[in-house]
Amino acid sequence: MLEKIRAIHQQVESIQIENGDQLEQFRSAYVGRKGVIADLFESLKTAPPEDRRAIGAELNNLKNLAQNKFTETRDRLETQQAQATQPAPVDLTLPGYPNEMGSMHPLSMVRARIVEIFERIGFNVADGPEIEDDWHNFTSLNFPPNHPAREMQDTFFIGKNPDMVLRTHTSSVQVRLMENGKPPFRAIMPGRVYRNEAISVRAHCVFHQVEGIYIDRNVSFMDLKQTLYHFSREMFGKDIRIRFRPSFFPFTEPSAEIDISCLICKGSGCNICKHSGWVEIGGSGMVDPNVLTNCGIDPEEFTGFAFGMGIERITNLLYQVRDLRLFTENDVRFLRQFGPVS
Ligand code: PHE
Repeated sequence: MLEKIRAIHQQVESIQIENGDQLEQFRSAYVGRKGVIADLFESLKTAPPEDRRAIGAELNNLKNLAQNKFTETRDRLETQQAQATQPAPVDLTLPGYPNEMGSMHPLSMVRARIVEIFERIGFNVADGPEIEDDWHNFTSLNFPPNHPAREMQDTFFIGKNPDMVLRTHTSSVQVRLMENGKPPFRAIMPGRVYRNEAISVRAHCVFHQVEGIYIDRNVSFMDLKQTLYHFSREMFGKDIRIRFRPSFFPFTEPSAEIDISCLICKGSGCNICKHSGWVEIGGSGMVDPNVLTNCGIDPEEFTGFAFGMGIERITNLLYQVRDLRLFTENDVRFLRQFGPVS
């Protein structure tokens, strides 16, 4: 029996334990209550009485050896593991990570500039839903029932419901403003609008407008012209010229298209202005009395003007972006080129 104990003694001494699994194997083979050492203690009972003392001493030695080896290894593995999961010490001498700077989207910058110009002359900013009903997008704005703009090729309808549309202009916000308040109104409404157009260099089914409205007593076409002239000078510089061309919108009478002198060729003629020297930036007119009545405003007492401009169009004139699709592709190489608008 003594020999057996020594053999096991050697085993215990020489065994290498490198991880938790091996430690557990070691524990159950030697230290545990079902391990070999426990068995040996069991057989001690049947050993000849004169040998028991010597064997018992050896056996106790072995037991202590195994137990100590177990606790020491367990402690060692635990510290190793704790060190492995601890973050590496911070090296304070390393250079910092550079902060990636974003930039504002060109359309957001131009919209902010437009808002700023109008706010300074007393216009508020109004907002409304992009999903509109027929009343706010069309009917209240004096669109006759069979007006072509309501047809499928221009308007996105929501599901099969002929009454719900993605707004085709932000004039719907003007209606909501007038319905919910009392004149005078002086507000602009920037926002996203939708039209069922094939996406190309020159057209997109989602784009942005800024519309404006001014309703009060004695508002005249003079006020409209002067307001838009002021806006154009602020936006494009004091040398800008502006002209109005007779036009038609169901919700204004009289109506006019707004042109500004071409920023690229300064009016002498180029590709951008199709050699006319002028580029269109939006529509405008005196609010039709029917629209005022539809919104609960007495057209005998109040008059007003409205206008609407494309933000993409203005951005293109300022930056000469030739392809409308770039605005929605979010290519950082494109976006990074834009500094703040002066
Ligand atoms: N709502 C018109 C459009 O989307 C623009 C406009 C607004 C014209 C106000 C006249 C007056 O084209």
